[in-house]
Amino acid sequence: MINLASDRRPPLDRSRASWVKSPMAPIMHPLIFSVTVSSVTGECALEPDPTASFAPAAWQQLAASVASEKGLTPFSAAVLYRRWQQGLAAVAVDNGSIIGHISCMPIFHQPTRSRAARALHGGQPMGASVWPMIDMFELLTGWTHPDWRKRSISLQLRQQLLAQVRSESLPRQRFFVSVTVGRGGSPVLARLGWHTIAWDAIPYVGSLIAQNADGKSRPGWHVINHAPYNGSDVAALMDTTHNWDRHCFLWVSQPALAHQLNDRLQAAVGRDLESWRRAWREAALPTLIQAGYLPVLFG
Ligand SMILES: CC(C)(COP(=O)(O)OP(=O)(O)OC[C@H]1O[C@@H](n2cnc3c(N)ncnc32)[C@H](O)[C@@H]1OP(=O)(O)O)[C@@H](O)C(=O)NCCC(=O)NCCS
Repeated sequence: MINLASDRRPPLDRSRASWVKSPMAPIMHPLIFSVTVSSVTGECALEPDPTASFAPAAWQQLAASVASEKGLTPFSAAVLYRRWQQGLAAVAVDNGSIIGHISCMPIFHQPTRSRAARALHGGQPMGASVWPMIDMFELLTGWTHPDWRKRSISLQLRQQLLAQVRSESLPRQRFFVSVTVGRGGSPVLARLGWHTIAWDAIPYVGSLIAQNADGKSRPGWHVINHAPYNGSDVAALMDTTHNWDRHCFLWVSQPALAHQLNDRLQAAVGRDLESWRRAWREAALPTLIQAGYLPVLFG
């Protein structure tokens, strides 16, 4: 794990950014790396560099770059910065600019789990025997500057961030998911050893991060012209001419855990998918949205 002591935080010019809030007690540390390019092979290596400095304008620039990618949810600079400050993101920096970024959000975890349980159970908490104690995180906002693409920056950033989140000492089992719109970060996720699962195969899990737009006004990021992918695992098809267009893929770090969570949720709510979706949407999702998250809305 990259252990950046909190007193060695990268310097930021706080006077220039009104949205920079004082940090929460950090559970994990902001991850920042400088890039070393081999003069022989041209390969990029990331080195932990807690002394690297960049102005808040770098986050504004990152947010603008993210917003210009049609496959990425357009999160604000303040949201991206806060995630990083909480140890939920890793950045690669070159010449004072962010040239690579990945972040993650805890989706199904203690606060949202207990809110959903109470909503389903008339205000009472559900016992651990019926309510799954598996944590689910989502990897999101993977972006590499076009000049630095296909040089392993995203892969290395993801490996570092996943290592940090996995090393956090919680006794629970946890797995990660990620949504790609078309190809997007699919090759990187396949290189991490992840797999795709049909959205329809784990609807209780899929509902945590995506919903069908139903004409009602809901907070979320609309993905148009890309239907949820319900075919077989595409991880092995990376080198072929797989047609990526028009689909949104659900990538999972550990399919067995995702199925287990789905089965436990399904059993706990008496196979009532609509009740589950409503409870999650009304009782748990607002907590995530307040923390700067947006679910995908299909259609
Ligand atoms: C997707 C993205 C983050 C990948 O960043 P990157 O730094 O170029 O990725 P990496 O170099 O670490 O990729 C790891 C592997 O995937 C391969 N890869 C990455 N993008 C690829 C692409 N578009 N087509 C084919 N292979 C690709 C790399 O060649 C590398 O393979 P290797 O290990 O066999 O050499 C970057 O292309 C990007 O910012 N795209 C626009 C935003 C976006 O779609 N983000 C993903 C959201 S899910």
